[in-house]
Amino acid sequence: MIPMHLTEKEEKMLNGEEGYAVKKAMQILVALGDIYGAESLIKVGSVQVAGVSYHNLGDAGLEFLDELAKDGKVKVLTTLNPAGMDLENWRQLGISPEFAEKQNMVIDAFEKMGILVSCTCTPYLIGNLPRYGEHVAWSESSAVTFANSVIGAKTNREGGPSALAAALVGKTPCYGLHLDEHRVPDIHVKVNARLAKFSDWGALGYSVGKKAENKIPYITGVKDAEVDELKSFCASVVTYGAKPLFYMQSITPGSENHQPPKDTVTIEDVDIQEAYEDINDEVSDIDFVCVGCPHCSIKEIADISNLLKGKTVSPNTELWVATSRFAKQLADKRGYTEVIERAGGKFACDTCMAVAPLKGRFRSVATTSAKGCYYSRHNKMLTKMGSLEECVEAAVTGKWK
Ligand code: F3S
Repeated sequence: MIPMHLTEKEEKMLNGEEGYAVKKAMQILVALGDIYGAESLIKVGSVQVAGVSYHNLGDAGLEFLDELAKDGKVKVLTTLNPAGMDLENWRQLGISPEFAEKQNMVIDAFEKMGILVSCTCTPYLIGNLPRYGEHVAWSESSAVTFANSVIGAKTNREGGPSALAAALVGKTPCYGLHLDEHRVPDIHVKVNARLAKFSDWGALGYSVGKKAENKIPYITGVKDAEVDELKSFCASVVTYGAKPLFYMQSITPGSENHQPPKDTVTIEDVDIQEAYEDINDEVSDIDFVCVGCPHCSIKEIADISNLLKGKTVSPNTELWVATSRFAKQLADKRGYTEVIERAGGKFACDTCMAVAPLKGRFRSVATTSAKGCYYSRHNKMLTKMGSLEECVEAAVTGKWK
């Protein structure tokens, strides 16, 4: 194994000349670079750090962050993934004061390091938007897939510690998806299926992920796609098996630079149907509805508000609209918040259905998200995936039709 080349300045950082946090961060980056055969470190334009929920970090994670926060300061724009709770309205979401206290300590540590406390998996909607071809170090899988595929930036799927290390140093080891030779599609996915409703994008992601099996798909046959649809597809395709990069002919950047690979699979209507059958459980009573995985855009919030006008959420069901605080502030101004909350819906800012401590609280969930279903099963919930209309209907009636 040839060790990664370090500049004089990087050597000094590794030797502790810039303090404890930078030394620790360099140790992480050097170990990673050596494992993956990186030749050097490369500058990053921004970082997105996952591993924010106290639910996942525990006391050991909190201790690690506190140590780094003693003298660590990020060198580039750095945003956070969802935390374990809404940082303002955690009580309303049924979070215990003990959990809230620990979660706030985690957030304080990040904030001390100069990280923007914008806990969202859609950083690209709130100002952390890389340019085409820019190297970044992001860690949440749907955001990584979006950055690589829809924006055309370059990032590996970082772990929480390696992303934080990149933020403290301003660099990441140059290997994997940072290198053009590893960004070549290796499976052609022909889509012959009709995509009729929003959740079909989650089902498509499921099918492509399963068929692509850790490869980079080159997708043909999709005529058009909205950003929210691509956001949903990104979350699903990587959750169910593909690499966090795809090309969609005539839709995503860089697709014009590649030819469909020889190795070909097709997605027919029956595959979309099968995806729904695999993702959905046999259940009709719904006690939890969560939309916003990935976090809702302002357009999705507007749609939810329109669907809820004049309706009331069932007393047997809890409805969460998961989004960034930034989108919520826009929703406040536009009056969407008032409509949603008057109907009995709750905003879950800064958090999400996968990282909030939900185990044991609900029996069944309805959502627009294939990824949301995957993680809800880990939380022992029965799952239903459907359109926004179907989810709002489930929230109002407490039933899945
Ligand atoms: Fe985002 Fe949580 Fe879904 S991080 S993609 S809302 S599981």
